[in-house]
Amino acid sequence: MRGDRKIEVSPSIISCDLANLGSQVTLCEKSGADSFHLDVMDGHFVPNLTMGPDLIKAVRKATGKRIDAHLMIERPDKYYRNFHDAGSDILLIHYESPVDLRLLFDRMRDESIDYGLVINPETSFSQVKDLIDECKILLVMSVHPGFSGQSFIESALPKVREARKYIDENGIDCRLEIDGGINYENGKKAVEAGSDILVSASYIFHNNISESIGKLLTL
Ligand code: DX5
Ligand code: ZN
Repeated sequence: MRGDRKIEVSPSIISCDLANLGSQVTLCEKSGADSFHLDVMDGHFVPNLTMGPDLIKAVRKATGKRIDAHLMIERPDKYYRNFHDAGSDILLIHYESPVDLRLLFDRMRDESIDYGLVINPETSFSQVKDLIDECKILLVMSVHPGFSGQSFIESALPKVREARKYIDENGIDCRLEIDGGINYENGKKAVEAGSDILVSASYIFHNNISESIGKLLTL
């Protein structure tokens, strides 16, 4: 807890042992994970390929916790329903996607589908502040999307600070999330800057899962 903010840990299952998906998800949940982060990459929007809706279905079967699908795909407007129907609770859409975001968000609201907005390291908060009103989450990327295991980009921190201030001053009901290179040290800085939700893949799954989640939860 930070003041009245509950800090949430969201394991990114991209780095889990996929042969033991169900038990890895259960272990995360028992260790205190509040939600799961699923990195969807299409080989176009980012130079890597990962999972599709079927993997989300498999995680859905393993947990009742919230599932956020981070859509690093060229056409979120074309595929968001597939990820929603597969069991995602919140769809995280990139500001940098080549689609009309206002139109997409209007459509998702009409269909009662929850969404969040993601910004890359080169996108400033001021570019997106008018879009976050109805977003459940603003996700600030602290790496260039595409791969787990990259180093944390420090310039994400002032952006988180700026977003925190704006969200609080304007009473906006949008949680602030950070994703990329999060470990205990960077996680601490991110929480101090105002993040509510910490996404982490390598730090959790390449170490002792319970201990890593436990340490992040103390921040
Ligand atoms: C990067 C993904 C991240 C990534 C996190 O494109 O969006 O969620 O998997 O991995 P770590 O925590 O290893 O940086
Ligand atoms: Zn992600």
